[in-house]
Amino acid sequence: MSRVALVTGGSRGIGEAISKALKDAGYTVAATYAGNDEAAAKFTDETGIKTYKWNVADYDESKAGIEKVEAEVGPIDIVVANAGITRDAPFHKMTPEQWHQVIDTNLTGVFNTVHPVWPGMRERKFGRVIVISSINGQKGQFAQVNYAATKAGDLGIVKSLAQEGARAGITANAICPGYIGTDMVMAVPEKVRESIIAQIPAGRLGEPEEIARCVVFLASDDSGFINGSTISANGAQFFV
Ligand code: CAA
Repeated sequence: MSRVALVTGGSRGIGEAISKALKDAGYTVAATYAGNDEAAAKFTDETGIKTYKWNVADYDESKAGIEKVEAEVGPIDIVVANAGITRDAPFHKMTPEQWHQVIDTNLTGVFNTVHPVWPGMRERKFGRVIVISSINGQKGQFAQVNYAATKAGDLGIVKSLAQEGARAGITANAICPGYIGTDMVMAVPEKVRESIIAQIPAGRLGEPEEIARCVVFLASDDSGFINGSTISANGAQFFV
């Protein structure tokens, strides 16, 4: 029986590439999405990967969704907390609503995704928790006080989970993608995006598949001693 992987936000962007790469690597994959039914249906048609709709910001929805996935697909061995949103604004213009939306989805959403699968991983003495953070959690970013706070928070989550899970055969690691060619980055005004690309020594945006390959490695048995770490994949834009 192949291991089961859950990818939140797994039908679009970086998450789509992760879902496909895990499937290609032999895992049984379930992908969640928040709202875009059409994109999710197309994704399932093309890949055969089952999709489930819930809001990661809501604990009860997440728990119920995860129970459904486990009943239909099997116990979750690998969880990839990838779902995330931006609500960019300079701090003096950022509204409490923009702050809370991003915190609820990107940070509390990680808690809501990992917490329900954690007891099963502990019982089965195996688990892989992979959180998709961001270069902007490492360096901060103009107009992203909310987003950078959540992505820095992700690093605290995995470093703590790593210590709690180590003896139970569970690893927890983060990946910090730099600027990747997805809808999220394409939504940045073109002039701003051009100036960002000019700051990337590689001279280009990253590709979602370049992040997906990191996930496949962290999901594997071979990565068992890598725990609490952060992989930066940013074209040399920033070093920790
Ligand atoms: N550094 C310094 N100053 C900056 C700046 C920067 N990076 N970006 C904008 N500014 C300045 C502008 O030049 C402007 O200055 P003036 O007032 O002197 O002209 C001011 O800040 C912006 O004022 P505006 O009133 O124009 O700002 P706005 O309310 O219209 O907001 C914005 C514009 C939301 C900041 C927009 O520029 C934007 O989206 N910027 C991109 C932010 C970004 O990089 N987000 C990352 C998204 S991708 C992602 O998050 C994925 C990942 O993990 C990497």
